[in-house]
Amino acid sequence: MSSYKKVILITGGAGFIGSHLVRLFVNKYPQYQIVNLDALTYAGNLENLRDIESLPNYIFEKGNINDQEAMFALFEKYSFDAIIHLAAESHVDRSISEPLAFVKTNVMGTCNLLNVSRKKWNPNWESKLFYHVSTDEVYGSLGKEGLFTETTPYDPRSPYSASKASSDHFVMAYHHTYGLPVIVSNCSNNYGSHHFPEKLIPLMIINIKNNQPLPVYGKGENIRDWLYVDDHASAIDLIFHKGTTGGKYNIGGFNEWKNIDLIYLLCGIMDKKLGRKPGDSAKLISFVKDRPGHDMRYAIDAGKLHRELGWKPSLRFEEGLEKTVDWYLANEKWIEQVTTGEYQHYYEKQYHK
Ligand code: NAD
Ligand code: TYD
Repeated sequence: MSSYKKVILITGGAGFIGSHLVRLFVNKYPQYQIVNLDALTYAGNLENLRDIESLPNYIFEKGNINDQEAMFALFEKYSFDAIIHLAAESHVDRSISEPLAFVKTNVMGTCNLLNVSRKKWNPNWESKLFYHVSTDEVYGSLGKEGLFTETTPYDPRSPYSASKASSDHFVMAYHHTYGLPVIVSNCSNNYGSHHFPEKLIPLMIINIKNNQPLPVYGKGENIRDWLYVDDHASAIDLIFHKGTTGGKYNIGGFNEWKNIDLIYLLCGIMDKKLGRKPGDSAKLISFVKDRPGHDMRYAIDAGKLHRELGWKPSLRFEEGLEKTVDWYLANEKWIEQVTTGEYQHYYEKQYHK
């Protein structure tokens, strides 16, 4: 028997959001043992957790969620009380060039974890929880009006969102069919430190700094709803502890930005930080071929989470962006480490076809 109050498996804890969540739980809950399971794909980086890696309630386990035998062995070793599942392939552009990798990890991997949980936890699972971290992209693309609510029908349009939608359905199916205690949350676009620079905001920060072109897809008119990553982590913490089992929660920033406006804002912040003349960084903007099937607008109604659990985002976007820029400017080594190797090949393929 563990002396910890709860033993929690966090999958994908070496990635962007996972590392923020692991840090929050390890620091805030010394009475919990946190086991971070991660395959360390191109997106997983243990450097992200350097500051907490020697704390006694933290353990890292390298492993793949698709590996059935390894997952059974892990459950045997730790007798988990709960799982917070983040491990996934997470980048839409990669899902367009390699859809099957997304089916494998996001669909098959999630099903494997569900199955292992069902077999290892059954029948005494009243106090257990399988918390699945998902995205607003499962709801599809909005026109000018409206917001995604928890009851918006799923309408995924990219291989990434289709794979996440499928995993959400399997999680709910395990709840309805077998009674597995689950919660699903669907969050809007996150930003913040330790974000892999294939995604819009870190890619733009790094290219502005290096005086490289800023590749804007199409006309830059697509809209995303941005949330600071630590606010996502705090929402997960709240839902994990106080959410209703079998429930679904939308998480979002009430913070919609057209891509091009966001990039201008970022250029302005960077001009100041880098001592450039106002307008200098924006000269790097370069409109490129649009993403196939590019979803026009995402916007989350996070009203349920606010009403039921009192959550709201803590930071204004401008503040969060400035903090994010400061982190990237102060962490050149991290950037260098993640932008060598595999990422270089990806970047060449994506932008210099
Ligand atoms: P990320 O790509 O930065 O990290 C994913 C992590 O999962 C990496 O550490 C990677 O090594 C690990 N991983 C991948 N395949 C694995 C496998 N087969 N077995 C074990 N580990 C594996 O992703 P992120 O942006 O931190 O997203 C985390 C989760 O949150 C994902 O499920 C994603 O769908 C969801 N989400 C992301 C956003 C966003 O804006 N980034 C928004 C809403 C929801
Ligand atoms: P991204 O960060 O990939 O997140 P998602 O596609 O999951 O929302 O992209 C955010 C937005 O920025 C999206 O509308 C696509 C656009 N984008 C560009 O215009 N240029 C780029 O180089 C990238 C990576 C994204």
